[in-house]
Amino acid sequence: MEKVPIVTIDGPSGAGKSTISQRLAARVGYAYLDTGAMYRAVGLKIELSGIDCDDGTVLSRLLDDIDLQLSPVGGKTRVILDGQDVSEAIRTPEISMAASRVSALPLVRAKLTSLQRAIGGRGGVVAEGRDMGTVVFPEAAWKFFLDATTEERARRRVLQLKEQGQQVDAQETLTQIIERDRADSSRALAPLKAATDAVIIDSSRMTIEEVVAFMAARVAGS
Ligand code: DC
Repeated sequence: MEKVPIVTIDGPSGAGKSTISQRLAARVGYAYLDTGAMYRAVGLKIELSGIDCDDGTVLSRLLDDIDLQLSPVGGKTRVILDGQDVSEAIRTPEISMAASRVSALPLVRAKLTSLQRAIGGRGGVVAEGRDMGTVVFPEAAWKFFLDATTEERARRRVLQLKEQGQQVDAQETLTQIIERDRADSSRALAPLKAATDAVIIDSSRMTIEEVVAFMAARVAGS
């Protein structure tokens, strides 16, 4: 398989993927593709619409009608769903769980996988998610799987939610992280797992800068 200049960063929630992907993208001059944001936007749309996801016809129509734009602003991504900026609305714990639920649906995965390939398939992207190196971009030249202990990931998620001004319960955050990772890892389709050719990084005791520097060196080195 011919390699394409794509960096994939997969891993469980709270491992530091977003911050690290954004910084790495800026450093190597690539675009940043936040695929979790896409699942979150679809989760939000399905929640708001109240449709029955078991009804394939109704779900297909909703997915056909969706207008999802990711627009880079100052290194971050604004998420525009059907003309509305939902960048903050998709970051709540409720939408995290909704995104995880809808991400197990084959129709949703098919739609977002093809959108992601349309955006990043030609290269020049750092793509972050759960199945970037395994399913969406198997031909990526550099694949990383970013992990950290469950406790460390929960601690980081609490800090992040507090920074966003959200009310957080540390114990509940830990429980949700465990539940979401269990669901994301055990689903039949494109489960969270490291690609066989991914470099696995445990970031529990590393700073963001250390991880970014390690990845950037790999990208520059080959
Ligand atoms: O990375 P995140 O926490 O924003 O992702 C939200 C959910 O979306 C996550 O629990 C699982 C799903 N997801 C996925 O199934 N595949 C991806 N490539 C990205 C996210």
